[in-house]
Amino acid sequence: MIQMDCWVQPKFTDWKRYQREITEIHEKLNDKEDAYIGWVDWPLRVEQELLQDLLNTAEEIRQKCTALVVIGIGGSYLGAKACIELLQSPFYNEYYAGKQKRPRIYFAGHHLSAIYYQELLERLHEEEVCLCVISKSGTTLEPSIAFEILRGYMQERYGMEEAAKRIYAITDASKGALRAEANEQGYKTFVVPDDIGGRYSVLTPVGLLPVAVAGIDIVSMLQGAAEACRAYDNADLTENICYQYGLLRNLLQQDGKVIEIFEVYEGRLRYFTEWLKQLFGESECKDGKGVIPMSMQMSTDLHAMGQFLQDGRQMFFETVLTIETIRRDVSLEGSAYAGRAKSMHELNQIVEKSARKAHLKNNTPNIRLTVSELSAKSFGYMVYFFEKACAVSCYLTGVNPFDQPGVEAYKSNIKAALRGEPQNET
Ligand code: PA5
Repeated sequence: MIQMDCWVQPKFTDWKRYQREITEIHEKLNDKEDAYIGWVDWPLRVEQELLQDLLNTAEEIRQKCTALVVIGIGGSYLGAKACIELLQSPFYNEYYAGKQKRPRIYFAGHHLSAIYYQELLERLHEEEVCLCVISKSGTTLEPSIAFEILRGYMQERYGMEEAAKRIYAITDASKGALRAEANEQGYKTFVVPDDIGGRYSVLTPVGLLPVAVAGIDIVSMLQGAAEACRAYDNADLTENICYQYGLLRNLLQQDGKVIEIFEVYEGRLRYFTEWLKQLFGESECKDGKGVIPMSMQMSTDLHAMGQFLQDGRQMFFETVLTIETIRRDVSLEGSAYAGRAKSMHELNQIVEKSARKAHLKNNTPNIRLTVSELSAKSFGYMVYFFEKACAVSCYLTGVNPFDQPGVEAYKSNIKAALRGEPQNET
C-alpha cells in the first residue's frame, strides 16, 4: 500500500550495516519497554464492542444534529482533522454534508482566537448542535476554555438536561477534570487508552468518533492499520520500508540535513502533513536533537519556496507523499496539454518529477512515499507506517518518542500564570 523510492547517497542504503541496531529497536518496540507504547499493537486488539459502540454513537450524533463541534488540541485534534480533510471534500461543510445528510464538522479548542469563537457561535445558531470534547489530561487550557464557552451556549440553548445528552467526551478512564464532569453530568464518554499518548491516538476513539460522524469508514481504517501493523512487524531491514525510512531520517540528520520537508502534490494531504509535523516534532525534537519537520503544498509552494528548495541553504531533505491513483480524475482530452498528459493527475505527476529532477541537481536528498489510493484503509495504513517509523527514528536519535517535556513546560507555565504567580522571563 506504500512504496518507497529514494534518491540519497548509496552509503545510506547499505541496509546490512544497520541491521543490528534495528533489530534491537524492533525488540524494544515489541517488548513495549517504554510507557505509552500501546499503539504498537492497538489495531490488532481493538475490541469489537468498542467499535460497535463508536458506530452506534456516530449514528446517534448524525440523527441529533446538523453540526458537530469537535473540541481538542494537538494529538486530540490533528488526527481527526487530517483524516476528514483527506477523505472528505474541501466543500464538505458548505455542500456535501447537506447532500449526504451528515453533520457539518467544526473544530475548536486548538487556539485562543476570540473572533473565531464569536463567529462560531453565530454560525451555530442556524444548526442543531452536538459537542465532542477530547482531552486526555482533561486540563489543557485551550480546549478547556473552548468547552466552557460552548457548554454554556448549549445549556442556555437546550437546557441542562438536553445539553448533557448532546455532549460527548473522550478522556482518561478515571483522571482529570473532564472525566469528573462527564461522570457528574452523565455525558456519553469514550476512553483514551492509558498506554497511548496524544499524538499516537488517532486510531482510538479520539480520531475514530469524529471521523465516523463525517461518514468515514472506521472499520476499513482499522483494517488498513492492522495490515500495516503486520507488514512492518519484521526486523529484516532489507524488507521493512518503514524501518528503512526511520533509519534514513536519522542518517540524513547525522549528515547535517536537519530539516525534513514533507511535500504533497494533492491538497487533501495538507492536514496530514500537519499531523506529521506534530508526530515527528513532539516525538523527536528534544535534548537539542531531532530533525525539524516542515511542510509544503505543491504546486503552490513551488512558486513560493521553490527558490529555497532549488538554491537555498543545504540543510534539508525532501519527503514527498504522492498518491498513485485518483478516483475522480479530470480528463485533459482536447486540452493543449493532452499530448503530454491524459489527465490532471498525470500532469501533477509530471510536475512532481520535474521538481525532483531540478532539486536533485542541487544534491538534495529526496524520499518519495507513494500511497496506492486515497481511502479510509490507506489512511489507517499510513498512520501506522509513520507512527512506527517515527518511533524507530527517535530511538536511533537517542530520545524517548513518547514524552513531550517541552509541551508540558509551557502548560505548567500557563497554570502558574493563571494562579497569579509572578512570571520571571529570564
Ligand atoms: O501528543 C500529545 O501528547 C499532545 O500534543 C497532546 O495531545 C495535547 O497537548 C493535548 O493534550 P490533552 O489531550 O491532554 O488535552
